[in-house]
Amino acid sequence: MTCRTRVAWRPGEDCGPRVVRSAHMRLECSQCVIRDWSPADREALVRHADNRAIWRNLTHKFPHPYTPADADRWFEIVAAMPEPTAWAIEVEGEAVGGIGVHPGEGVYAGSAEIGYWLAAPLWGRGIMTEAVRAVSAYALEHFGLCRLEAGVFGWNTASMRVLEHCGFVRESIAKAAVFKDGELTDKVTYALVDVSRKG
Ligand SMILES: CC(C)(COP(=O)(O)OP(=O)(O)OC[C@H]1O[C@@H](n2cnc3c(N)ncnc32)[C@H](O)[C@@H]1OP(=O)(O)O)[C@@H](O)C(=O)NCCC(=O)NCCS
Repeated sequence: MTCRTRVAWRPGEDCGPRVVRSAHMRLECSQCVIRDWSPADREALVRHADNRAIWRNLTHKFPHPYTPADADRWFEIVAAMPEPTAWAIEVEGEAVGGIGVHPGEGVYAGSAEIGYWLAAPLWGRGIMTEAVRAVSAYALEHFGLCRLEAGVFGWNTASMRVLEHCGFVRESIAKAAVFKDGELTDKVTYALVDVSRKG
C-alpha cells in the first residue's frame, strides 16, 4: 500500500482536529484504491448502493432505494466537510463502495467511528479487509486518533470477520440495541486502540 496525501490537520487538545479543505487522499492497496469521492461517481454509486443487502447492514442514514438524488445529497455532504473523512473504494477505475470515519467531538476527539460498504458482486474477495486495514492505519496517523470503533449488527458475521482480520477487538455487545428491517438485533462494538501518539 502506498499513501499519497498531504497532512492537513493536527489534533487540538480540547476542540479536536483543525481541518483544511484542500487535503487530497489516495491509498493504493493491492485490489483497490481508496480516494476522494467525485460527482463523476454518481452513476456507479447509485448502481452499487441501491441494494437491500447493503442497506440492511447500515444505519438509518443510508437510504433505500438509493436514488440519483441520494447520490447528489451525498456529494453535498462530503463537499461540506472541512476535510473529507469519507472516501470511495475504487476497483478497476470504478467506485464500488464507500468507507469513512466519523470523528468524535470534545472529550471524544481522539476517537472515531469507522463505517464501510462494498458492491455485492465483489464480496468475499478480501477487498474490504484490505480497505479497512489501510484506512484504519491512515486515520489513526493522519487525524492523530487513539481509537477507532465500529458498531456491527449482530447478524453481520462478514463485517466482524473483516474487523478481526484488521486487529479490531470485540469489546461489548449491546443487547437488542438495533431495530432494522423489521427485526431486533444486537450492536456489537469492535475497537482498534493505539495510544502510542498520546501522553
Ligand atoms: C461486510 C462487507 C463490507 C465485507 O466486505 P468483503 O470485501 O466481502 O469482505 P472480505 O472479503 O474482506 O472478508 C469477508 C469475511 O467474511 C466472511 N464471510 C462472508 N460472508 C459470511 C457469512 N455469511 N458468515 C460468516 N462469514 C462470512 C468471509 O469468509 C471473510 O472472512 P475470511 O477471510 O476469514 O474467510 C460487505 O459484505 C458489505 O458491504 N456488506 C454490506 C454493508 C456492511 O455490512 N457494512 C459494514 C457495516 S458494520
